[in-house]
Amino acid sequence: MECVVEGIIETQHVEALEILLQGLCGVHRDRLRIHELCLKSVPNLGLVASELRLLCDLEQSEPTWTVRHIGGAMKGAGADQISVLVRNMVESKVSKKALRLFYALGYKLDHELLRVGFAFNFHRGAQIRVSVSSVNKMLKLHATDEAVPLTPGIQLVEVTASASSENYTEVAAAVSSFCEYLAPLLHLSKPSNSTGVVPTAAAASASLMSDGGGTTL
Ligand SMILES: *[C@@H]1O[C@H](CO)[C@@H](O)[C@H](O)[C@H]1NC(C)=O
Ligand SMILES: *[C@@H]1O[C@H](CO)[C@@H](O)[C@H](O)[C@H]1NC(C)=O
Repeated sequence: MECVVEGIIETQHVEALEILLQGLCGVHRDRLRIHELCLKSVPNLGLVASELRLLCDLEQSEPTWTVRHIGGAMKGAGADQISVLVRNMVESKVSKKALRLFYALGYKLDHELLRVGFAFNFHRGAQIRVSVSSVNKMLKLHATDEAVPLTPGIQLVEVTASASSENYTEVAAAVSSFCEYLAPLLHLSKPSNSTGVVPTAAAASASLMSDGGGTTL
């Protein structure tokens, strides 16, 4: 399982967010350049449609592929009470031949994206990953060099942490409390309920840029 929250930030404030994250995490950022292929199976013979994402990290000298299946979100009163979405997620490393395999299994390419940005991986009550990226679409099939922004001027921020059915409350609490530090710059919420940019972003960003992120906390 994983705990996840998302938000958006204007590109002009991304540098301030990076300074803040760097100060909070104390680790260096990793560059992200992820080619994401969303595959959908065609429902037939009574099988339900399913969706998979094939991800290729183009930042690596030798591109590595991962397949990810996002399952259902946890439901019920317990899930409603926490401000973090808890969902099933299965991820596995695959070889670059995986795309052909999934085509052979009846999956079709639904859409593809290129996410460009950076991520911080650190431990703070749980192993947390914060990624900040612009989401681009391809004008031609697999043409990652000709990608154009899907939402110009806006970047997506995603905070995730892996969890299990035993520890998700603890992990969700760690994610929530970390998100509070980012609140002046962006609002993070369950993916289905992303709110807009926050009105305090410009002021928070200006203050972070002027003092290097050290004193605002
Ligand atoms: C919670 O469980 C997951 C899955 O076993 C594990 O990866 C993670 O490190 C655990 N987190 C904490 C804070 O115990
Ligand atoms: C979305 O979030 C707002 C404020 O955080 C909340 O008032 C609203 O009920 C949420 N909507 C859904 C569908 O969860």
